[in-house]
Amino acid sequence: MTTSLFSTVIRTASHDRHTEAENAPFIENLLSGRFAVDAYARYTEQLFFVYQALEEAAGPLAQDPVAGPFLKPELMRVAALERDLTHLLGDQWRDGVTPLPATRRYAERIAEVAMTWPAGYVAHHYTRYLGDLSGGQVIRSIAERVWGLERKGDGVRFYVFDGIDNPAAFKRQYRALLDALPVDELEKQRVVEECRTAFALNSAVFADLDALFPLTA
Ligand code: HEM
Repeated sequence: MTTSLFSTVIRTASHDRHTEAENAPFIENLLSGRFAVDAYARYTEQLFFVYQALEEAAGPLAQDPVAGPFLKPELMRVAALERDLTHLLGDQWRDGVTPLPATRRYAERIAEVAMTWPAGYVAHHYTRYLGDLSGGQVIRSIAERVWGLERKGDGVRFYVFDGIDNPAAFKRQYRALLDALPVDELEKQRVVEECRTAFALNSAVFADLDALFPLTA
């Protein structure tokens, strides 16, 4: 009997959810370049609430044997999002930003697993950060071109990982950490399920955003 690497299992098992998220109308409209910059700003705001939840857990989980190894400072995105939002919305941006209902649910789920289930937190960590290092780069180039944001500058810093010169090598190391996740098979199955949930929570945020920024064909 052959056993698959966990990084392969989790990627394969979430593939359909990835396709769904990638093809969400809001994302398609974003990638088509037809939105005004306000839709991109509202999307960036939602990311701020998600990463705040992910990164508030970084301190408490730093020494955790399961989640701790994933918490690398070069991944942290909140400071970059703060700069992007200052650029997009002005110095007073904090007064005006609100999580959409789906964003609130997503952030709450992250906070819950961060406090109660470190391997579940890893599922959320994987879903966001490995995605940002992959398809996220497509969004950056659109944002730079369509809204005239400075290349790798304020407005798109979320997509720029200063400490990661070689994303492909970083992703290989990340997958090795997943493969070595110190939990049993049953718990790995639960992690896969949580990863699928994480994708669905992302799709729900896109649906909320789509309702705010409908585009007719
Ligand atoms: C703009 C739409 C998107 C595009 C164009 C896109 C594209 C890609 C591509 C090309 C890869 C493969 C990279 C590689 O093999 O190194 C990838 C991987 C990944 N994406 Fe996306 N993606 C998008 C949206 C998303 C979303 C919304 C999420 C979840 C929030 C996500 C999560 C992931 C994850 C976790 C991986 C890593 C899979 C693995 O190798 O284990 N992506 N994406």
